[in-house]
Amino acid sequence: MTATVTSTSAQPAAAGTGFPEGFVWGAATASYQIEGAAREDGRGPSIWDTFSRTPGKVFGGHTGDVACDHYHRYAEDVALMADLGLAAYRFSVAWPRIRPDGTGPVNTRGLDFYDRLTDELLGKGIDPVVTLYHWDLPQTLEDRGGWTARETAFAFADYAEVVYRRLGDRVATWTTLNEPWCSAYLGYGNGVHAPGKQDPAGSLAAVHHLNLAHGLATQRLRAAGARNISVTLNPCEVSPLDPTNAADVAAANIIDGVANRIFFDPLLRGEYPADVLEHISRITDLSFIEDGDTEIIHQPIDVLGINFYTPSYVSAKPGQPGALDYPGSEGIAFRKPVGPVTDIGWQIEPASLTRLLTRMHRDYPGTPLMITENGAAYPEGVHDQDRIDYVDGHLRACLDALAAGVDLRGYFAWSLMDNFEWAEGYRKRFGMVHVDYTTQERVLKDSAKWYREVIKRNGLA
Ligand code: FCB
Repeated sequence: MTATVTSTSAQPAAAGTGFPEGFVWGAATASYQIEGAAREDGRGPSIWDTFSRTPGKVFGGHTGDVACDHYHRYAEDVALMADLGLAAYRFSVAWPRIRPDGTGPVNTRGLDFYDRLTDELLGKGIDPVVTLYHWDLPQTLEDRGGWTARETAFAFADYAEVVYRRLGDRVATWTTLNEPWCSAYLGYGNGVHAPGKQDPAGSLAAVHHLNLAHGLATQRLRAAGARNISVTLNPCEVSPLDPTNAADVAAANIIDGVANRIFFDPLLRGEYPADVLEHISRITDLSFIEDGDTEIIHQPIDVLGINFYTPSYVSAKPGQPGALDYPGSEGIAFRKPVGPVTDIGWQIEPASLTRLLTRMHRDYPGTPLMITENGAAYPEGVHDQDRIDYVDGHLRACLDALAAGVDLRGYFAWSLMDNFEWAEGYRKRFGMVHVDYTTQERVLKDSAKWYREVIKRNGLA
């Protein structure tokens, strides 16, 4: 059952509902969202510990102190994964467990946890897919500027190598960052995520330092022997509201630049797009970009992770104030979601995923793609036909992309189980497995049982 996520090359889908042989079926989680044990075994505080304790930042004052208690229940959770037939499990490592103050002494007990988890997974034939950064920056690094500071990128590369040296003999696939868009623009742009800053120029410096962190870490992982390296992005699949209106088309291009191409181009082509640099130069002097940086950022990667949930539609609207999570978006309006939405208010439009995948394949050819997150929030309950419909629709969108020639290697459901949904706390539930936060009991939702059948037949019904 063990599958190395980049080992197979996608063959065209056989029948209309079947996936290519070797297509990787997985589920994803992230450290702060599920682990709990926030003060155990030498873990240091992260920006999410600080942020969740700041009144008004997280719904209900919820924190990740206990979360799903996965730190203690990982064996039970891995047994659930095996029961579902998952070929791979995407989890993240908490930097503050490994280097509690970001750069100082290594905390072996933190590494021991991921060691146990890795062995448990391998023992059940499940491929561990490790993300090195899913947003829980050590607080001490934030005190020194966080991602607005260049040093953080170097600290990340050091930490990445420490983790690799412990797990690299058993973990095949390494993802540097999860959704740097969120780290930069929600963390330092609109402040909806930790560390909760509102600093447009700082958010752009953060973008660059996250890109740099990816490049530096990739160099170090590669030198230490890593073979399958990736980064996970959450592209904004943006369309002009009226495709025949030139101003709307220009608006969509600006959003595509500041949200997508500011990551895609340096990572996959080795340069920032000139129009994006020009556009943001009214916000920042760009002095954070140093000679040689784009070469460092532009490292060969083996797979590109794509997280996808919802489409965006924009139009030109003179006088519209800019959105802080899209610096330079003055005069651009985002359309409110229309049609069916999930419990978090995100519009459901699977065809948007097909558009995104075919666009990536067309504009950035040569890099295999993997859906590293896709899923939906729905109200509490185990009879979640809505979630089945959402995932079914998006898997059909993947089949359409495969039929169009996209090199898509796998799909990871977000999420294995209900968990701490960042600023929404525990009130938004994305899990295929229900978690009772009082008893920590796990119960398979209908979607989990349905997913098990999809995996078994490597296709939809
Ligand atoms: C993504 C995050 C993930 C989860 C889902 C719903 O942006 O990577 O942690 O919160 O959204």
